[in-house]
Amino acid sequence: TVHPILLCGGAGTRLWPVSRKSYPKQFTNMLGDQSLFQASALRLTGPGFAAPVVVTGGDFRFVVTEQLAGVETQAGAILIEPAARNTAPAILAAALHLAAEDPDAAMLVAPSDHVMGDDAGFRDAVRAALPAALEGRIVTFGIRPDRPETGYGWLELEQATEATAPVPLKGFVEKPALAEAQRMLADGRYLWNAGIFLFTAGTLIAAFETHQPAMLAAVRAAVAGAATDLSFTRLDAAAWDVLEDISIDYAVMEKADNLSVLPYGGAWSDLGDWDAILREGNPDERGVVRQGPATALDCDDTLLRSESDALEIVGIGLKDVIAVATPDAVLIADRARSQEVKAAVARLKEKG
Ligand code: GDD
Ligand code: MG
Repeated sequence: TVHPILLCGGAGTRLWPVSRKSYPKQFTNMLGDQSLFQASALRLTGPGFAAPVVVTGGDFRFVVTEQLAGVETQAGAILIEPAARNTAPAILAAALHLAAEDPDAAMLVAPSDHVMGDDAGFRDAVRAALPAALEGRIVTFGIRPDRPETGYGWLELEQATEATAPVPLKGFVEKPALAEAQRMLADGRYLWNAGIFLFTAGTLIAAFETHQPAMLAAVRAAVAGAATDLSFTRLDAAAWDVLEDISIDYAVMEKADNLSVLPYGGAWSDLGDWDAILREGNPDERGVVRQGPATALDCDDTLLRSESDALEIVGIGLKDVIAVATPDAVLIADRARSQEVKAAVARLKEKG
Protein backbone atom coordinates (compact mmCIF):
# COMPACT_ATOMS: atom_id res chain seq x y z
CA THR A 1 0.00 0.00 0.00
CA VAL A 2 0.89 3.61 -0.56
CA HIS A 3 0.36 6.18 2.20
CA PRO A 4 -0.80 9.51 0.78
CA ILE A 5 0.75 12.50 2.58
CA LEU A 6 -1.48 15.52 2.03
CA LEU A 7 0.38 18.78 2.51
CA CYS A 8 -2.00 21.64 3.13
CA GLY A 9 -0.22 24.12 5.37
CA GLY A 10 0.77 26.67 2.73
CA ALA A 11 -0.45 30.26 2.65
CA GLY A 12 -1.38 30.54 -1.05
CA THR A 13 -0.56 34.23 -0.94
CA ARG A 14 -0.55 34.80 -4.69
CA LEU A 15 -4.27 34.06 -4.84
CA TRP A 16 -5.20 36.92 -2.54
CA PRO A 17 -7.88 38.23 -1.94
CA VAL A 18 -9.72 34.92 -2.19
CA SER A 19 -6.93 33.00 -0.48
CA ARG A 20 -6.53 34.40 3.05
CA LYS A 21 -4.18 33.66 5.91
CA SER A 22 -7.00 32.11 7.92
CA TYR A 23 -8.48 30.28 4.93
CA PRO A 24 -5.87 29.66 2.23
CA LYS A 25 -6.53 28.64 -1.34
CA GLN A 26 -6.33 24.87 -0.86
CA PHE A 27 -9.53 24.95 1.21
CA THR A 28 -11.48 27.19 -1.17
CA ASN A 29 -13.40 26.16 -4.25
CA MET A 30 -11.09 27.80 -6.73
CA LEU A 31 -12.60 25.83 -9.60
CA GLY A 32 -15.54 23.48 -9.41
CA ASP A 33 -17.48 22.46 -6.33
CA GLN A 34 -14.84 20.70 -4.27
CA SER A 35 -11.95 22.41 -2.60
CA LEU A 36 -8.50 21.69 -3.98
CA PHE A 37 -7.72 19.83 -0.76
CA GLN A 38 -10.82 17.65 -1.09
CA ALA A 39 -9.96 16.90 -4.71
CA SER A 40 -6.43 15.87 -3.67
CA ALA A 41 -7.76 13.57 -0.97
CA LEU A 42 -10.20 11.88 -3.34
CA ARG A 43 -7.54 11.51 -6.04
CA LEU A 44 -5.58 9.21 -3.72
CA THR A 45 -8.45 7.07 -2.49
CA GLY A 46 -8.94 3.52 -3.72
CA PRO A 47 -7.36 0.07 -3.83
CA GLY A 48 -3.71 0.19 -2.84
CA PHE A 49 -3.97 3.50 -0.96
CA ALA A 50 -4.03 3.77 2.83
CA ALA A 51 -5.91 6.49 4.73
CA PRO A 52 -3.98 9.74 4.20
CA VAL A 53 -1.62 11.43 6.63
CA VAL A 54 -2.46 15.15 6.62
CA VAL A 55 0.19 17.70 7.61
CA THR A 56 -1.07 21.18 8.33
CA GLY A 57 -1.04 24.18 10.69
CA GLY A 58 -3.09 24.38 13.89
CA ASP A 59 -5.41 27.04 12.48
CA PHE A 60 -6.60 24.68 9.78
CA ARG A 61 -7.21 21.55 11.85
CA PHE A 62 -11.00 21.75 11.92
CA VAL A 63 -11.23 22.86 8.30
CA VAL A 64 -9.32 19.67 7.48
CA THR A 65 -11.60 17.35 9.46
CA GLU A 66 -14.74 19.06 8.13
CA GLN A 67 -13.61 18.98 4.54
CA LEU A 68 -12.54 15.33 4.76
CA ALA A 69 -15.93 14.45 6.25
CA GLY A 70 -17.52 16.37 3.38
CA VAL A 71 -16.05 13.87 0.92
CA GLU A 72 -16.54 10.89 3.21
CA THR A 73 -12.86 10.38 3.90
CA GLN A 74 -11.02 9.94 7.17
CA ALA A 75 -7.40 10.71 7.82
CA GLY A 76 -5.04 8.06 9.14
CA ALA A 77 -3.35 10.84 11.11
CA ILE A 78 -3.39 14.64 11.18
CA LEU A 79 -0.02 16.09 12.13
CA ILE A 80 -0.11 19.67 13.38
CA GLU A 81 2.91 21.90 12.81
CA PRO A 82 3.49 24.43 15.59
CA ALA A 83 4.49 26.93 12.85
CA ALA A 84 4.76 26.81 9.07
CA ARG A 85 8.34 25.94 8.08
CA ASN A 86 7.69 25.01 4.46
CA THR A 87 7.59 21.52 2.99
CA ALA A 88 10.90 19.94 4.09
CA PRO A 89 10.09 19.67 7.82
CA ALA A 90 6.44 18.78 7.08
CA ILE A 91 7.36 15.86 4.81
CA LEU A 92 10.09 14.65 7.15
CA ALA A 93 7.65 14.67 10.08
CA ALA A 94 5.26 12.47 8.08
CA ALA A 95 8.13 10.09 7.21
CA LEU A 96 9.22 9.76 10.84
CA HIS A 97 5.60 9.24 11.90
CA LEU A 98 5.19 6.38 9.41
CA ALA A 99 8.64 4.90 10.05
CA ALA A 100 7.76 4.36 13.70
CA GLU A 101 5.42 1.61 12.44
CA ASP A 102 7.23 0.57 9.26
CA PRO A 103 10.40 2.12 7.82
CA ASP A 104 9.62 0.54 4.46
CA ALA A 105 6.22 2.22 4.20
CA ALA A 106 5.79 3.84 0.78
CA MET A 107 4.62 7.45 0.94
CA LEU A 108 3.21 9.60 -1.82
CA VAL A 109 3.66 13.28 -1.07
CA ALA A 110 0.82 15.26 -2.60
CA PRO A 111 0.41 19.03 -2.60
CA SER A 112 -3.14 20.26 -2.29
CA ASP A 113 -3.01 23.02 -4.87
CA HIS A 114 -3.22 21.03 -8.09
CA VAL A 115 -5.86 20.32 -10.68
CA MET A 116 -5.49 17.06 -12.56
CA GLY A 117 -7.81 15.66 -15.18
CA ASP A 118 -7.60 11.93 -14.89
CA ASP A 119 -7.49 10.71 -11.28
CA ALA A 120 -7.63 6.99 -12.16
CA GLY A 121 -4.80 7.48 -14.66
CA PHE A 122 -2.75 9.21 -12.00
CA ARG A 123 -3.29 6.36 -9.54
CA ASP A 124 -2.04 3.98 -12.26
CA ALA A 125 1.07 6.14 -12.63
CA VAL A 126 1.68 5.90 -8.88
CA ARG A 127 1.40 2.10 -9.08
CA ALA A 128 3.87 2.09 -12.00
CA ALA A 129 6.30 4.14 -9.89
CA LEU A 130 6.04 1.97 -6.80
CA PRO A 131 8.67 -0.71 -7.64
CA ALA A 132 11.39 1.94 -8.08
CA ALA A 133 10.43 3.55 -4.77
CA LEU A 134 10.61 0.20 -3.00
CA GLU A 135 14.14 -0.19 -4.41
CA GLY A 136 15.19 2.99 -2.62
CA ARG A 137 14.67 5.61 -5.31
CA ILE A 138 13.10 9.02 -4.77
CA VAL A 139 10.55 9.08 -7.59
CA THR A 140 9.38 12.41 -8.99
CA PHE A 141 6.60 12.91 -11.51
CA GLY A 142 7.55 14.81 -14.64
CA ILE A 143 5.30 17.01 -16.75
CA ARG A 144 6.17 18.04 -20.30
CA PRO A 145 6.84 21.81 -20.17
CA ASP A 146 5.16 24.23 -22.58
CA ARG A 147 6.46 27.55 -21.26
CA PRO A 148 9.59 28.82 -19.46
CA GLU A 149 7.94 28.65 -16.03
CA THR A 150 10.10 30.07 -13.24
CA GLY A 151 7.69 29.03 -10.47
CA TYR A 152 8.39 25.29 -10.81
CA GLY A 153 11.23 22.85 -10.34
CA TRP A 154 12.80 21.39 -13.50
CA LEU A 155 13.98 17.79 -13.88
CA GLU A 156 16.99 17.03 -16.06
CA LEU A 157 16.96 13.70 -17.92
CA GLU A 158 19.94 12.02 -19.57
CA GLN A 159 17.99 12.13 -22.79
CA ALA A 160 14.45 12.84 -23.92
CA THR A 161 12.28 9.80 -23.21
CA GLU A 162 8.91 8.26 -24.00
CA ALA A 163 9.22 5.94 -20.98
CA THR A 164 6.20 5.10 -18.85
CA ALA A 165 8.26 3.57 -16.04
CA PRO A 166 10.64 5.59 -13.83
CA VAL A 167 14.03 6.52 -15.33
CA PRO A 168 17.02 7.88 -13.36
CA LEU A 169 17.39 11.65 -13.23
CA LYS A 170 20.54 13.63 -13.91
CA GLY A 171 19.60 16.69 -11.90
CA PHE A 172 16.99 18.92 -10.31
CA VAL A 173 16.76 22.70 -10.59
CA GLU A 174 14.28 24.45 -8.31
CA LYS A 175 12.66 27.70 -9.50
CA PRO A 176 15.20 28.80 -12.12
CA ALA A 177 15.75 32.32 -13.43
CA LEU A 178 13.90 33.08 -16.67
CA ALA A 179 16.95 32.72 -18.93
CA GLU A 180 17.70 29.30 -17.50
CA ALA A 181 14.07 28.22 -17.85
CA GLN A 182 14.16 29.31 -21.50
CA ARG A 183 17.34 27.31 -22.07
CA MET A 184 15.85 24.19 -20.45
CA LEU A 185 12.63 24.52 -22.45
CA ALA A 186 14.58 24.72 -25.71
CA ASP A 187 16.89 21.84 -24.71
CA GLY A 188 14.09 19.25 -24.75
CA ARG A 189 15.57 16.96 -22.05
CA TYR A 190 13.82 18.66 -19.15
CA LEU A 191 10.46 18.07 -17.51
CA TRP A 192 8.64 20.10 -14.87
CA ASN A 193 8.60 18.71 -11.38
CA ALA A 194 4.95 18.10 -10.48
CA GLY A 195 5.80 18.52 -6.78
CA ILE A 196 4.53 14.99 -6.14
CA PHE A 197 7.03 12.49 -4.75
CA LEU A 198 7.04 8.76 -4.02
CA PHE A 199 9.59 7.08 -1.74
CA THR A 200 9.75 4.91 1.33
CA ALA A 201 9.91 6.59 4.72
CA GLY A 202 13.36 5.07 5.22
CA THR A 203 14.68 6.43 1.92
CA LEU A 204 13.62 9.96 2.80
CA ILE A 205 15.01 9.78 6.32
CA ALA A 206 18.34 8.56 4.90
CA ALA A 207 18.38 11.50 2.47
CA PHE A 208 17.96 13.94 5.38
CA GLU A 209 20.67 12.08 7.31
CA THR A 210 23.04 12.82 4.41
CA HIS A 211 21.95 16.31 3.36
CA GLN A 212 20.17 17.87 6.39
CA PRO A 213 21.34 16.15 9.59
CA ALA A 214 20.48 19.09 11.86
CA MET A 215 16.95 19.28 10.50
CA LEU A 216 16.58 15.53 10.98
CA ALA A 217 17.54 15.80 14.64
CA ALA A 218 15.08 18.63 15.28
CA VAL A 219 12.15 17.01 13.47
CA ARG A 220 12.89 13.69 15.17
CA ALA A 221 12.59 15.45 18.52
CA ALA A 222 9.37 17.18 17.44
CA VAL A 223 7.81 13.85 16.44
CA ALA A 224 9.09 12.02 19.54
CA GLY A 225 7.66 14.78 21.75
CA ALA A 226 4.32 14.97 19.96
CA ALA A 227 1.12 15.16 22.00
CA THR A 228 -2.28 13.77 21.12
CA ASP A 229 -5.16 16.27 21.15
CA LEU A 230 -8.54 14.88 20.02
CA SER A 231 -7.74 13.23 16.69
CA PHE A 232 -4.72 15.47 16.12
CA THR A 233 -1.02 14.81 16.67
CA ARG A 234 0.62 18.04 17.77
CA LEU A 235 4.36 18.16 17.03
CA ASP A 236 6.49 19.51 19.84
CA ALA A 237 6.76 23.30 19.57
CA ALA A 238 10.12 23.80 21.27
CA ALA A 239 11.83 21.29 18.99
CA TRP A 240 10.06 22.69 15.93
CA ASP A 241 10.98 26.27 16.73
CA VAL A 242 14.65 25.92 15.70
CA LEU A 243 13.82 24.73 12.16
CA GLU A 244 14.57 26.94 9.20
CA ASP A 245 11.91 27.59 6.56
CA ILE A 246 12.94 25.53 3.54
CA SER A 247 11.16 23.49 0.88
CA ILE A 248 11.93 19.84 0.19
CA ASP A 249 13.11 20.88 -3.27
CA TYR A 250 16.01 22.98 -1.99
CA ALA A 251 16.65 20.90 1.14
CA VAL A 252 16.90 17.49 -0.51
CA MET A 253 15.89 17.21 -4.18
CA GLU A 254 18.60 19.50 -5.57
CA LYS A 255 21.21 17.47 -3.66
CA ALA A 256 20.06 13.85 -3.86
CA ASP A 257 21.68 11.42 -6.29
CA ASN A 258 18.98 8.72 -6.14
CA LEU A 259 16.26 10.57 -8.04
CA SER A 260 14.11 8.99 -10.73
CA VAL A 261 11.27 10.43 -12.75
CA LEU A 262 8.07 8.95 -14.02
CA PRO A 263 7.01 11.00 -17.04
CA TYR A 264 3.32 11.75 -16.54
CA GLY A 265 1.24 12.57 -19.62
CA GLY A 266 -2.09 13.39 -17.97
CA ALA A 267 -3.44 16.86 -17.33
CA TRP A 268 -1.77 18.67 -14.44
CA SER A 269 -1.64 22.25 -13.27
CA ASP A 270 -0.53 24.05 -10.12
CA LEU A 271 -3.10 26.70 -9.29
CA GLY A 272 -0.42 29.00 -7.98
CA ASP A 273 -1.58 32.39 -9.18
CA TRP A 274 -4.48 34.14 -10.94
CA ASP A 275 -2.91 33.60 -14.32
CA ALA A 276 -3.25 29.84 -13.71
CA ILE A 277 -6.93 30.30 -12.79
CA LEU A 278 -7.41 32.14 -16.07
CA ARG A 279 -5.71 29.28 -17.97
CA GLU A 280 -7.57 26.49 -16.18
CA GLY A 281 -10.94 28.15 -15.60
CA ASN A 282 -12.56 27.20 -18.91
CA PRO A 283 -12.05 30.41 -20.90
CA ASP A 284 -14.65 31.32 -23.56
CA GLU A 285 -13.72 31.90 -27.20
CA ARG A 286 -12.24 35.30 -26.35
CA GLY A 287 -10.24 33.93 -23.45
CA VAL A 288 -12.53 35.41 -20.79
CA VAL A 289 -13.23 33.58 -17.53
CA ARG A 290 -16.23 34.74 -15.50
CA GLN A 291 -16.71 33.41 -11.97
CA GLY A 292 -19.70 34.46 -9.87
CA PRO A 293 -21.98 37.32 -11.02
CA ALA A 294 -19.74 38.75 -13.74
CA THR A 295 -20.41 40.47 -17.06
CA ALA A 296 -17.82 41.05 -19.77
CA LEU A 297 -18.42 43.51 -22.62
CA ASP A 298 -15.85 43.32 -25.37
CA CYS A 299 -13.09 41.87 -23.15
CA ASP A 300 -10.24 39.53 -24.08
CA ASP A 301 -8.06 37.22 -21.98
CA THR A 302 -9.47 38.57 -18.77
CA LEU A 303 -10.60 37.08 -15.45
CA LEU A 304 -13.66 38.60 -13.78
CA ARG A 305 -14.45 36.96 -10.46
CA SER A 306 -16.87 37.97 -7.74
CA GLU A 307 -17.02 36.11 -4.44
CA SER A 308 -20.50 37.30 -3.51
CA ASP A 309 -23.88 36.96 -5.17
CA ALA A 310 -24.56 40.53 -4.09
CA LEU A 311 -21.49 41.91 -5.84
CA GLU A 312 -21.82 42.23 -9.60
CA ILE A 313 -18.53 42.72 -11.44
CA VAL A 314 -18.49 44.27 -14.93
CA GLY A 315 -15.57 44.61 -17.34
CA ILE A 316 -15.63 46.75 -20.48
CA GLY A 317 -12.99 46.63 -23.18
CA LEU A 318 -10.40 44.94 -20.99
CA LYS A 319 -7.42 42.94 -22.22
CA ASP A 320 -5.12 40.77 -20.06
CA VAL A 321 -6.66 41.90 -16.80
CA ILE A 322 -7.26 40.06 -13.54
CA ALA A 323 -10.17 41.49 -11.54
CA VAL A 324 -11.24 39.75 -8.34
CA ALA A 325 -13.81 41.23 -5.95
CA THR A 326 -14.53 40.00 -2.44
CA PRO A 327 -16.70 41.78 0.15
CA ASP A 328 -13.66 43.42 1.76
CA ALA A 329 -11.00 43.63 -0.92
CA VAL A 330 -10.66 44.07 -4.69
CA LEU A 331 -7.68 43.08 -6.81
CA ILE A 332 -7.13 44.58 -10.26
CA ALA A 333 -3.91 43.54 -11.97
CA ASP A 334 -2.12 43.11 -15.24
CA ARG A 335 -2.29 39.41 -16.04
CA ALA A 336 1.44 39.22 -16.74
CA ARG A 337 2.18 40.41 -13.21
CA SER A 338 0.12 37.94 -11.21
CA GLN A 339 3.25 36.71 -9.41
CA GLU A 340 3.53 40.13 -7.77
CA VAL A 341 0.38 39.66 -5.71
CA LYS A 342 2.71 38.11 -3.14
CA ALA A 343 4.62 41.38 -2.82
CA ALA A 344 1.35 43.32 -2.61
CA VAL A 345 0.18 41.18 0.28
CA ALA A 346 3.51 41.74 2.05
CA ARG A 347 2.95 45.49 1.62
CA LEU A 348 -0.53 45.24 3.13
CA LYS A 349 0.90 43.33 6.07
CA GLU A 350 3.39 46.15 6.72
CA LYS A 351 0.55 48.65 6.72
CA GLY A 352 -1.08 46.42 9.34
N1 GDD B 1 1.96 21.27 5.93
C1 GDD B 1 2.55 22.22 5.24
N2 GDD B 1 3.40 23.09 5.89
N3 GDD B 1 2.29 22.33 3.95
C2 GDD B 1 2.92 23.31 3.26
C3 GDD B 1 3.81 24.23 3.86
C4 GDD B 1 4.05 24.10 5.26
O1 GDD B 1 4.79 24.86 5.90
N4 GDD B 1 4.25 25.08 2.90
C5 GDD B 1 3.65 24.70 1.75
N5 GDD B 1 2.84 23.64 1.98
C6 GDD B 1 1.98 22.92 1.02
C7 GDD B 1 1.18 23.87 0.15
O2 GDD B 1 -0.10 24.08 0.73
C8 GDD B 1 1.09 23.09 -1.16
O3 GDD B 1 0.00 22.20 -1.15
C9 GDD B 1 2.38 22.26 -1.19
O4 GDD B 1 2.85 22.22 0.16
C10 GDD B 1 3.47 22.80 -2.11
O5 GDD B 1 3.87 24.09 -1.67
P1 GDD B 1 3.93 25.32 -2.67
O6 GDD B 1 4.33 26.50 -1.87
O7 GDD B 1 2.68 25.40 -3.47
O8 GDD B 1 5.15 24.91 -3.60
P2 GDD B 1 5.44 25.47 -5.07
O9 GDD B 1 4.23 25.29 -5.93
O10 GDD B 1 6.00 26.84 -4.94
O11 GDD B 1 6.62 24.50 -5.58
C11 GDD B 1 6.53 23.08 -5.52
O12 GDD B 1 5.54 22.58 -6.40
C12 GDD B 1 5.81 22.82 -7.81
C13 GDD B 1 4.69 22.22 -8.63
O13 GDD B 1 3.44 22.58 -8.15
C14 GDD B 1 7.92 22.52 -5.86
O14 GDD B 1 7.94 21.14 -5.56
C15 GDD B 1 8.25 22.74 -7.34
O15 GDD B 1 9.47 22.07 -7.66
C16 GDD B 1 7.14 22.19 -8.20
O16 GDD B 1 7.41 22.42 -9.59
MG1 MG C 1 2.24 25.09 -5.50
